[in-house]
Amino acid sequence: MSTTFQLDTATSRAHPTPAPMKRLTVPAIQRRKFEGKTEEPLVMLTAYTARQAQLLDQHCDMLLVGDSLGQVIYGLPSTLQVTLDMMIAHGAAVVRGSYHSVVVVDMPFGAYEASPQQAFAAASRIMAETGCAAVKLEGGQAMAETIAFLTRRGIPVMAHVGLTPQAVNALGGYGARGRSQEEHAKIIADGQAVADAGAFAVVVEGVVEPIAVSLTQSVEIPVIGIGASARCDGQVLVTEDMLGMFERVPRFVKKYGDLAGFITETAAKYAEEVRARTFPGVEQTYQPK
Ligand code: KIV
Repeated sequence: MSTTFQLDTATSRAHPTPAPMKRLTVPAIQRRKFEGKTEEPLVMLTAYTARQAQLLDQHCDMLLVGDSLGQVIYGLPSTLQVTLDMMIAHGAAVVRGSYHSVVVVDMPFGAYEASPQQAFAAASRIMAETGCAAVKLEGGQAMAETIAFLTRRGIPVMAHVGLTPQAVNALGGYGARGRSQEEHAKIIADGQAVADAGAFAVVVEGVVEPIAVSLTQSVEIPVIGIGASARCDGQVLVTEDMLGMFERVPRFVKKYGDLAGFITETAAKYAEEVRARTFPGVEQTYQPK
């Protein structure tokens, strides 16, 4: 059965019919990994808008309002230009559009690295102004103190290690990480540090597969892979990448659709009909009684 939506203009919420499943919680996500194993892998996709959230919600356990929206939505060269206000606006839209998934909002570059106090100020704004359930931040051992500070104050944190796009200038690019013994050990230590600090889950991005597998086996919290391994506790992808919105995508993306092709063909049909004056037709025009 397909879902329809009724817009409540007072709250800006679109209520789905039939009524959706109950919203998952952060502890429920964490419990999906039991005695070191996740029976059914966790499903996470990025979402940036209310309508996108409505369409993805029932299929996901978590929706990530990723700072990748800088490139995907705003055409920025990297995530470094994304602001807290941008994350809050999109985070609130995704919470309004979802009823089931745990919504996690990325902390943007510059909003949390200076101190645990700075991170708390940014994270508490994100939580209060969006209604999301958790925040995500990039960094391993260097962020452990901040993660402990936030979690002790009631802010669930998802960590992000391996290829951390906000550190693109320090890393020298977006290539896969962990090919040297030294890098391998550092990424495992980062994952262990964020788990010990109280993160409820950790994203591991763009690493050679053995790192993803050994991190998944060595920490108690769910490890969500992207460009990592099918043996992680769950997977995340940028929705527009997997829908086929872009010609060029990272090697680890599987395109499940061809949205770019669909949009281009549909726009061409529309343009043709406008130029031929066949749109609007009788069905789309109002006639006097
Ligand atoms: O910003 C983002 O979309 C992310 C995912 C790629 C994990 O951090």
